Amino acid sequence: MTESPNAFEMRGIVKRFPRVMANDHVDFACRPGEVHALLGENGAGKSTLMNVLAGLYRPEAGEIFVGGQRVAFRSPQDAIAHGIGMVHQHFMLVATHSVAENMVLGLNRPRFFLNLSRVEEQVTALGEQYGLTVNPRAKIWELSVGEQQRVEVLKMLFRGAKILILDEPTAVLTPQEVETLFHTLRDMTKRGHTIVFISHKLDEVVAISDRVTVMRRGKVTAAHVPSRETTKAQLAKLMVGREILFQIEKKKAQPGKVVLLVEHLYADNDRGLPALRDLSLQVRAGEILGIAGVAGNGQRELAEVLTGLRHAVGGKMMFGDIPLDRHTSWLNLGQKLAHIPEDRAAVGSVPGLSVAENLILKCFHRPPIAAGWSINRAAVHQNAVRLVGEYQITMPSVDTPARMLSGGNLQKVILARETSGHPELMIAVHPTRGLDVGATEAVQNILIRQRDAGAAILLISEDLDELLSLTYRLAVIYEGRLVGEMPTKDAEIHTVGLMMAGTKVDA
Ligand SMILES: Nc1ncnc2c1ncn2[C@@H]1O[C@H](COP(=O)(O)OP(=O)(O)OP(=O)(O)O)[C@@H](O)[C@H]1O
Ligand SMILES: [Mg+2]
Repeated sequence: MTESPNAFEMRGIVKRFPRVMANDHVDFACRPGEVHALLGENGAGKSTLMNVLAGLYRPEAGEIFVGGQRVAFRSPQDAIAHGIGMVHQHFMLVATHSVAENMVLGLNRPRFFLNLSRVEEQVTALGEQYGLTVNPRAKIWELSVGEQQRVEVLKMLFRGAKILILDEPTAVLTPQEVETLFHTLRDMTKRGHTIVFISHKLDEVVAISDRVTVMRRGKVTAAHVPSRETTKAQLAKLMVGREILFQIEKKKAQPGKVVLLVEHLYADNDRGLPALRDLSLQVRAGEILGIAGVAGNGQRELAEVLTGLRHAVGGKMMFGDIPLDRHTSWLNLGQKLAHIPEDRAAVGSVPGLSVAENLILKCFHRPPIAAGWSINRAAVHQNAVRLVGEYQITMPSVDTPARMLSGGNLQKVILARETSGHPELMIAVHPTRGLDVGATEAVQNILIRQRDAGAAILLISEDLDELLSLTYRLAVIYEGRLVGEMPTKDAEIHTVGLMMAGTKVDA
């Protein structure tokens, strides 16, 4: 075992949750200065294993060694004291504080607060060293998602992390931001830092990592495979146990009549600031219109206004010949309008309800589910069993609470509910974000099937590959405006990436 403080080894790690063995005697180790990718399908146990390494979870069994020494972490502070820091997929920054303040929050060393300008200097110096430029005085809420991620990485470096765990760091970045991040990662490894990189994007994994370890159902199925000696297809097979095509089979779209018409739409965000400014678009039956953009440019507000969760402050929306406005009865639109929301846990599902109950949230007021004043339990159960089979949802039983499902399976529950009623219009927001290759393929096929059945689909996504492979037309949203719209066959990934970042491009 290496004595370098930048190397670690986990042996026989066991971590159980109710009904799930999340880590079943897992061995995992990293050499100093490598980028080690950790792969696996949704629910395989990757985040759990890294939460153990980062001191957030305590394992029921197993040992951890850092630099050859046995360690036991009681908290993330213990882990960072041994040089291990984790950047979680959901950032843990305090929005109303500055970058520099976030560096020292939770450090339990009040004297730091007295010398914030010293911290600011250090942040600037670290930023220059690693190509992570960010204004140390900026408040977190003023920063883009890409910048916030830089702050998370800086925070770990500031606290002395030598081993950095990144849990799906590229899910929310533009192609250009991914490049910048990869530069930083290479700088870090040159300085001896070790990086654990979790991602479902296999092209990136092959590009950035030195070695790969794959998990399946709580166990390691392939350990320390040199990335150079493997391919995307092989990795996918190791992850999900079957071949993945990486290409959705689809016919050419046959757009029909306009189903959704939006003209000069204006809306405000939660802070009362303009989020949508004079936005106009049309989606026709049988086509998928893609909206590309970096998170925070109005996508959420657009989806909310279109699904009745937020009021517009100006403009006009028509769903066929039904006006969508303050007088619309959204409940009556029911299954005609499908919504795959960004926030699956909070908006898309009710975590405490069972899978079967989550599947009827949109049709509980109609027969056969409604029986007079009550709910027909047998029909609820039958409906669930049918959809679980049709959409290949994996879980212990239809009575399992939604909160216990892995990301991919929860997403399939929402899709099953939203698409089983044959919607005319579908608003899908990041429908495959964070899903493994197998679940992504399943979800994309469901969207294409809906399109072919005549649904008009508005697909809001940050994943350019996905937009390019699924859509018929593509528009880019930037600061609440649509900047450029093109037939997808003419779209070029680099140009679209620049437009997403607000650069004016002559098309
Ligand atoms: N806090 C928890 N309580 C109960 N079960 C949990 C909890 N966290 C994770 N699980 C379960 O443990 C298993 C492993 O989850 P984990 O989050 O580690 O998967 P993952 O490999 O990171 O998946 P993904 O790619 O979807 O992020 C899953 O079955 C999940 O449902
Ligand atoms: Mg995870």
